[in-house]
Amino acid sequence: MPAHDDPLAGALAAIVGAPHVLTDPEVKATYEVDWTSRYRGESRLVVRPAGTAEVAAVVRECAAAGVPIVAQGGNTGFVGGGVPRGGEVVLSLARMDDVEPPDQAAAQIAAGAGATLAAVQDAARRAGHFFSIDLGARDSATIGGLLATNAGGTRAFRYGMARAHVVGIEAVLANGAVVSRMAGLPKDNTGYDLAQLLVGSEGTLGVITRARLALTSRGGSVATALVGIESTAEAVELFARLRRDLPGLDAAELFYANGLELVRAHAGLPAPLARAFPAYLLLECSAVAGAQDDLVAALGADADAVLADDSTTRQRLWRYRESHTEAVSARWIPLKLDVALPLSRLAAFVDELTAFARAELPAAQVFVYGHAGDGNLHVQLVGLDAAAERDAMAAVLALVARNGGSIGAEHGVGVAKRDWLHLTRAPGDVAAMQAVKRALDPEGVLNPGVLFPDGT
Ligand code: FAD
Ligand code: MLT
Ligand code: ZN
Repeated sequence: MPAHDDPLAGALAAIVGAPHVLTDPEVKATYEVDWTSRYRGESRLVVRPAGTAEVAAVVRECAAAGVPIVAQGGNTGFVGGGVPRGGEVVLSLARMDDVEPPDQAAAQIAAGAGATLAAVQDAARRAGHFFSIDLGARDSATIGGLLATNAGGTRAFRYGMARAHVVGIEAVLANGAVVSRMAGLPKDNTGYDLAQLLVGSEGTLGVITRARLALTSRGGSVATALVGIESTAEAVELFARLRRDLPGLDAAELFYANGLELVRAHAGLPAPLARAFPAYLLLECSAVAGAQDDLVAALGADADAVLADDSTTRQRLWRYRESHTEAVSARWIPLKLDVALPLSRLAAFVDELTAFARAELPAAQVFVYGHAGDGNLHVQLVGLDAAAERDAMAAVLALVARNGGSIGAEHGVGVAKRDWLHLTRAPGDVAAMQAVKRALDPEGVLNPGVLFPDGT
C-alpha cells in the first residue's frame, strides 16, 4: 500500500516525523529478514521513534488500529522473534541509542534500548568499570534486545545472564502505559518486579525503552588460553577443576575439530596448536595482577595450550571461537538449536547426538560449539530439507529434554521453538505464562505468534 493510502502511516508520521515511517519496500526489506535469512515476512511499515513518549503514542495508535507490533533492536536474534510474520508494524528502537555517563558511586549505567552492547561496554570501560555481558554480536545487538531475550554470552557462568545486570527498566505496555523503575535502588521491595517480568519476554509483554544496568569491576590483568582436549568429558572435568582452583576464570568456550576446520577455511587462520585435537576449550581469566601465571599454574605443565596475555593475540584466539557463527552462516542457512544441559549430562548428550546424527541424518553435517561453563551448546544442523529439519529438530529437542536440559538456553523461543515449549515447560507453567500475557496484552498487540504455539 503506498504511504499516502495508509492512514496508519500518516498517524504514525504525525508522532515520529515522516522520515521515520518507512513504507518503501526496498527500505523496509532489511527489517523484514533475520540475521540468518531463515525467517522473513512483509511488514505493514517500519516506525522509528526517538523516545519513550513517542513509543507510547505509536503503541496506542497501532493498538487502536488493531495492527500488531514487532519490536526490533539490532536484528541479531536467532529465533525469528524480531522480524514480522506478515502485516505487523516493525517498531525499531535504533534511534534510542543514548548512553549516559556511568553513576560512579552506584556503579550503574543507564542507556536507551537502542544502544549497542559495544557502546555500553565502552562507556563503562572509559569510566573505569566493567560491563560483563559479552557476545559476538556486540556491535549490533542492543540493550533492548539483550534484555528482551535475556541474553547470555561468554561470561554468564561467572557474572550471570542479562537478567542479573538489570537494576531498572522503562517500558511501554500494550495499552500504551509506561512502566518505569529507573531510580537505581538496589533495594526496592514494593510489589511485583515488573522489570524482571519483562526480561526474557521476547517483546510479548512490553516494549523496553530504557534500562539501568549494574556494572562490576575486573582486574586489569587478563590471560587467555586455547587448550586442545580429547573429549567433551575432558572439557567438563577441566572446567570443574579450573572453576574451583582459578577464582578469576570468566570464560570457558567449547568447540570441536570440524568447526575449527570450517572457521580456519572461512577466516584464513592457521592451525592454533602443533597438532589437531578432537575438541578445544578457550579459557579466559582475570586478576588484579599475574593472570597468566595463575592460568598456567592451574592448567598444569602437561596442557597442550597456546596462551595470550596481550589484546592482539587474545583477539586472534577468540576468532577461533567467535567466527563459528559467521563461518556456518556464510555457507548455509543452518538449523540453529541453542540448548542447555546439566553439566553432568553434557558429554552423554554430545555422544547421543553424534550417534543419532550418524544413524538418522546421514545427509547432515553437525557443528557444535558453546558456552561450556553453562552447559550451553549451539547445535547447528546443515544439509537437510525442510521436512527433515522439522523431524531433526523434534528429535534433538526431545533428546535434550530426556537429558534434563532446556530447549532454549540463551536465544529464547521466538517462533522457532514455540511448538516444542511443552518439552521443557510443564502445562501449568505455560498456562500461567499465557495468563500473564492475556492480562497485559489482551488484544495480542505485542509480538503475537512468538513464544506460544497457538499464537496467543
Ligand atoms: P533483536 O534481534 O532485534 O530482537 C530479539 C528479540 O527481542 C525479538 O523477539 C524482539 O521482538 C525483542 N526485542 C528487541 N528489542 C526489544 C525491545 N526494546 N523491547 C522489547 N522487545 C525487544 N545471544 C546470546 O545470548 N549469547 C551469545 O553468545 C550470542 N552470540 C551471538 C553472536 C552473533 C554473531 C550473533 C549474530 C548473535 C548472537 N546472539 C547471542 C544472539 C543475539 O545477539 C542476542 O539474542 C541479542 O540479545 C539480540 O539483540 P538484538 O538487539 O539484535 O535483538
Ligand atoms: C555463540 O555463542 O556464538 C552465539 O550464541 C551465536 C550462535 O549460536 O551461533
Ligand atoms: Zn552463545
